[in-house]
This record gives sequence, structure tokens and C-alpha cells, in this order.
Amino acid sequence: MTTVGLIGSGNIGGTVARLAVDAGYDVVLSNSRGPETLTDLVEALGGHASAGTAQDAAQVGDLVVVSVPLKAYRAVPVEPLAGKVVIDTNNYYPQRDGAFPELDSGEITSSELLQRHLPQSRVVKVFNNIYFKGLAALSRPSGAADRSALAIAGDDADAKAEVTAFLD
Ligand SMILES: NC(=O)c1ccc[n+]([C@@H]2O[C@H](COP(=O)([O-])OP(=O)(O)OC[C@H]3O[C@@H](n4cnc5c(N)ncnc54)[C@H](OP(=O)(O)O)[C@@H]3O)[C@@H](O)[C@H]2O)c1
Repeated sequence: MTTVGLIGSGNIGGTVARLAVDAGYDVVLSNSRGPETLTDLVEALGGHASAGTAQDAAQVGDLVVVSVPLKAYRAVPVEPLAGKVVIDTNNYYPQRDGAFPELDSGEITSSELLQRHLPQSRVVKVFNNIYFKGLAALSRPSGAADRSALAIAGDDADAKAEVTAFLD
């Protein structure tokens, strides 16, 4: 597994891209406005980064990170993510995302919304409970005594193992 697709390349997506490049992965970034708006970030990340559409990032990513405001989750491409592990960083902020009655009632979780949208993908939630600046500053090599813990959640053991290896 060598390529990480980013759907959403803002605070969290951009930070995960930086960490992934530093760990030896290739990354393909995308956002809502188009690849031409990601030139500066691609340049800053160096030769292992490129930008495309969300469709491109979904297509070429061996592992794909969805890091958009929750209100945009329905725009995440479905077909190219079939069979793939998808990392979900989203949190629900009604003041930003608008009200989702199913979330307000506790009927479903935000990751289950994304999983329902991507029925053939395996969604694992991670990076949702760490501020992006902390994520950027606190990465440590395996075995470091001051390494942080990152919580993950999902219902597919193999997908969680794949994500854990990526975090490592
Ligand atoms: N910030 C944090 O520290 C933090 C921590 C944990 C979890 N989170 C959660 O992670 C998610 C992302 O947060 P963030 O702070 O990284 O947000 P952000 O900085 O606003 O970035 C959001 C990214 O999503 C893109 N996007 C929006 N709509 C899209 C669409 N329809 N298709 C493709 N890309 C789209 C945006 O592109 P454009 O700019 O082109 O619209 C932007 O690149 C949110 O759910 C947030 O609650 C954030």
C-alpha cells in the first residue's frame, strides 16, 4: 500500500498528508474547488504529493481519508471506494453542518452515516479527537515513550488493523 487519497485537504487532511509523506507514502490531495487551488500545498509537500479531483483521490488511493465538513459527506464518490478502507475524521457540528435529525436523536453515528453512503467500503473513524496542530506536532516513532494514543473505531477487524499499521 503506497498511495493515500485525501478527500478534503484542509486542517486535518493537509496534516495527515504531511505525516503520510514524511512516512514514505505518496498522497493525492483533493478538495471542493479543484486541484488548481492545491498547488501551494502540493509544492510544500514535495515530490510525493499531487492533486486531483475527489474522484481521482478515491480512485488512486489504496487507503482514502475523508476529511470534509460532515455536511458534505454525500459528495464523497461511492463507486471508486468500493472494497477500500476509508478513514473518517469527521465530527458533527450542527452550527456548521446544519441539523441531522438522525444524529440528534442518537439513532445513528456520523461514521455510520458515511458507512451507509459507502456500503461497499470499510469505514474506520480516527483523527477526529485530536486538534490538527497537535496531530502535526505530536507524531513520534514506534516505541517512543512519549508517543500519543489515537483512538480508532470501526466494526471490521481487518480494516482496523490496516489503519493501525498506517498510524504506526
Ligand atoms: N480541525 C481539527 O483540528 C479537526 C480535528 C478533528 C476532526 N476534525 C473534523 O475533520 C473534518 C475536517 O476538518 P478540517 O478542520 O480539516 O476542515 P477544513 O480545514 O475546513 O477542510 C475541509 C476540507 O474539505 C474540503 N471539502 C469540502 N467540501 C468538499 C467536497 N464536497 N468534496 C471534496 N472536498 C470537500 C475543503 O475543500 P474546499 O476548501 O475547496 O472547500 C477542505 O479541503 C471535519 O469534520 C472536522 O470536524 C477537525
